Amino acid sequence: MIGVIDSGVGGLSVLKELRQAMPQADFFYLGDTARNPYGTRTPEEIKKYSLQLGKWLLAQEVTGLVIACNTITVQALDLLRRALSMPVIGMQTDVALWPAEKRVAVFATPATIAKGNYQQSLAKRYPTVDVVAHACPGLASAIEHNRREEIGQLLEECRPLLSECDAAILGCTHYPLIISDWQKLSPSCRFIDPAQATAKAARHALGEQAQGSGRTEYTFTQEGRAAMWVSRLFGPNVAARQVTIEE
Ligand code: DGL
Repeated sequence: MIGVIDSGVGGLSVLKELRQAMPQADFFYLGDTARNPYGTRTPEEIKKYSLQLGKWLLAQEVTGLVIACNTITVQALDLLRRALSMPVIGMQTDVALWPAEKRVAVFATPATIAKGNYQQSLAKRYPTVDVVAHACPGLASAIEHNRREEIGQLLEECRPLLSECDAAILGCTHYPLIISDWQKLSPSCRFIDPAQATAKAARHALGEQAQGSGRTEYTFTQEGRAAMWVSRLFGPNVAARQVTIEE
């Protein structure tokens, strides 16, 4: 089984791509909904919590791990690789632009923006492109709990920047869950979801583990709106379980 972790429901947007890329693989999804959001937490907390998630999944006998969370990837990928005896794949921050795209926005949690991985990869690959980073504190949490009014208000704050950009990277895995809201906000902008590139990298690294029965376990550390998001993405008869992670 391939483990997939996130601070909550955001990683489900990556799981969707993983299932498409590896339809025969078995997945074990774990979302830390009880301690969401991670994006406004300290690097120490993010490291501690994500290590607990990885170890818990290892005890469930997963044999590979996909970090379906940008915040965990930028803060704890190296730590998880050192601490867990299995291959660990993080979110891919090396994003491909189209030739006409000259000004690009990066939207992500404060923890991801502070680390600067997307900004650095873009600057290295496209030195003449103008990159503008914008942290969206509160947005992942509003999506997690499907607080529509708050989502609308927080997206409004992104409108001025979007109007000046050709493309925008959704650098938090919660953000593609509301892709139609982003597209409505700025129909002329191309929204880039790094989940597809991540699924491709995962297939490359974990390919030999992709032979199973195409089953997925959905587990969360708190019920919240998790079941709603699971059924919205994967169908109404899919069960989501609550599990306890030892501190
Ligand atoms: N979904 C996560 C990400 O990609 C984190 C959201 C959060 O917990 O703040 O960054």
